[in-house]
Amino acid sequence: NLTGLDLRAEIDRLRKERNAVILAHYYQSPEIQDLADYIGDSLELSKKAAATDADVIVFCGVKFMAETAKILAPEKIVVLPDMNAGCSLEDACPPEKFKAFREAHPDHIALTYINCSTEVKALSDVIVTSSSAETILAQIPADQKIIFGPDRHLGGYLNRKFGREMLLWPGVCIVHEAFSETELLKLKAQHPGAPVAAHPECPPTIVDHADYVGSTSGILNYAKTMPGDTLIVATEPHIIHQMEKALPHKTFIGAPGADGNCNCNICPYMALNTLEKLYLTLRDLAPRIEIEESLRLQAKRSLDKMIEMAA
Ligand code: 13P
Ligand code: SF4
Repeated sequence: NLTGLDLRAEIDRLRKERNAVILAHYYQSPEIQDLADYIGDSLELSKKAAATDADVIVFCGVKFMAETAKILAPEKIVVLPDMNAGCSLEDACPPEKFKAFREAHPDHIALTYINCSTEVKALSDVIVTSSSAETILAQIPADQKIIFGPDRHLGGYLNRKFGREMLLWPGVCIVHEAFSETELLKLKAQHPGAPVAAHPECPPTIVDHADYVGSTSGILNYAKTMPGDTLIVATEPHIIHQMEKALPHKTFIGAPGADGNCNCNICPYMALNTLEKLYLTLRDLAPRIEIEESLRLQAKRSLDKMIEMAA
């Protein structure tokens, strides 16, 4: 029974006692973001995990992110407040099916979005995040055949932008898939001149209306330099918390779903992490991420390649 406990004070006490670092993704609730030692996009959080001298990494994000931290920092204890914090992209790409897809295309390399299981990373050649995908793809010769998974919208965006013909795995992010083009156009009409920033996990019906397309950190940086003082944000709306903190004089509006508001675009997996679970995770150092060593080493190769090529 946690009633009466000052959770924030307890989390602070335990974080010092355990020499723990709290890493949080921009899609976490504002109360978790405000407690975190570092907030970032997927690439930044991976790098933080690899570089930290803490003994414990508390990953406030989803499971594939915590697994990435464990792959890069195996000597650390890595905990995730809720082990059910998955991802629809990971679910859309079962390793056995991905393996069969690879085997059916032996002359292709596998360029794979970080939003996937450790097993799929182990079956891939190079991992990308949304902030590193363009830099990495630009280094791959034009005649190299590529399969890209699991996000068909990010893959399609890259194909269009770079004139490539990567074969796309049919996964989608259920959160970014839920934005409505009709509602977005209505919102744009209500705010003439306001730019739209979209995550590349959005379908083309949304990305085609965007003035800026990029990762969560990319969108946050765009908010700092954009023309005007109102931005329509087509990604998970919890990122708006950081925008409002950094730019209190500007206005940020979450792009709507079919019902005309942005609440259907809250990631249900990210939302499983709560302040209570964060406290319990730090107290009990559980649930922990554990990865079998040969699988970890195999998955690390494609992640190391990402970090090398993204630099
Ligand atoms: P980035 O923070 O790397 O843009 O990733 C977004 C995302 O959907 C994470 O699940
Ligand atoms: Fe996965 Fe989409 Fe949630 Fe990110 S926002 S964790 S891609 S379901």
